[in-house]
Amino acid sequence: MRKILLTGGTSKTAEAIVKYYSSETGYDIYLLSSDADKIIFNKDKKISVDYCNKKDLKSIIYGIEPNVIVNCAAMTNVDQCEKDKSTAWNANAELVETLAKICRVMESRLITFSTDYIFDGQDGPYGETGLPNPLSYYGRTKLAGENLALSVLDNLTIIRSNVVYGSSSYGNVDFIRWVIEKLNNGSSIKIIEGQWCNPTYVHDLARSVSRAIINESNGTFNVAGTDYLNRYEIAVKIAARMGFDNELIAPIPPGSLKQLAKRPEKGGLITFKAENEFGIKFTGLEEGLEMLKIDMIVRLH
Ligand SMILES: NC(=O)c1ccc[n+]([C@@H]2O[C@H](COP(=O)([O-])OP(=O)(O)OC[C@H]3O[C@@H](n4cnc5c(N)ncnc54)[C@H](OP(=O)(O)O)[C@@H]3O)[C@@H](O)[C@H]2O)c1
Repeated sequence: MRKILLTGGTSKTAEAIVKYYSSETGYDIYLLSSDADKIIFNKDKKISVDYCNKKDLKSIIYGIEPNVIVNCAAMTNVDQCEKDKSTAWNANAELVETLAKICRVMESRLITFSTDYIFDGQDGPYGETGLPNPLSYYGRTKLAGENLALSVLDNLTIIRSNVVYGSSSYGNVDFIRWVIEKLNNGSSIKIIEGQWCNPTYVHDLARSVSRAIINESNGTFNVAGTDYLNRYEIAVKIAARMGFDNELIAPIPPGSLKQLAKRPEKGGLITFKAENEFGIKFTGLEEGLEMLKIDMIVRLH
């Protein structure tokens, strides 16, 4: 039995990975969380941890001896990272380095996630070898996390993604679910015709993780959806697919949104390398929305 340990047990990504492995045999999944009481899956293999307490973190992980650690823990609220830089650094950089060092001792694989926010958005979408130039503190900490892990570990898979969406049993919000909730309540929303991206259905991250484990894939891989769109176009597609009134959505010019952290204007990721390595066709927005819709209906009943 191979042991896979996930940090950030309540993240959207960890939830998708747990669901993915629920139909696979040969793997034991362990979940670490800052609040394991919340976790509704894997009840017998969930452990609360203070990620900043390196001694406890090490003793828990060495006690389990996982073959693979998948690091889903992160401070993902980009504006909050500007306000609370030390927490952002601990979560997005230092924790990754600690996990990489633990993996080096155990000769285990680390799979960790990064973002297109390591780029400045001048000329996206970006390939894996694009030149990073983060605009935000979030982007800087995620880039530091990548570099720190690369400096200590060879058995390392870095999966970069962007605008991840999917269901969350713990109420973790994302841009797409935020738009759905607003339109469902009949609220008007102003959405910029900018911040280009390729929204990523979280299930594609779970599938990529499973292939990276099987293939023992080292290096950096971009995993993202097949549609390259600006935020307004995404909102319009959501309204059409989910049956909401698109008159509620007003376009506003790129750069006109007052957000604390600067975002890449033309972000997004080119995914050929990951498609080839993992043998996966990633999910388009319409298909992802359809799956999200089914999931939301199932939750209501
Ligand atoms: N969401 C996106 O659009 C996006 C885009 C590109 C890349 N990514 C990357 O993909 C990974 C997974 O993202 P996600 O969207 O699935 O995450 P998420 O749903 O936002 O969950 C992140 C989890 O991290 C843990 N966490 C929160 N604050 C923390 C802190 N200060 N220190 C340590 N852990 C903390 C929490 O889990 P516990 O309390 O259970 O530990 C939380 O549920 C992250 O590395 C993220 O940077 C996400």
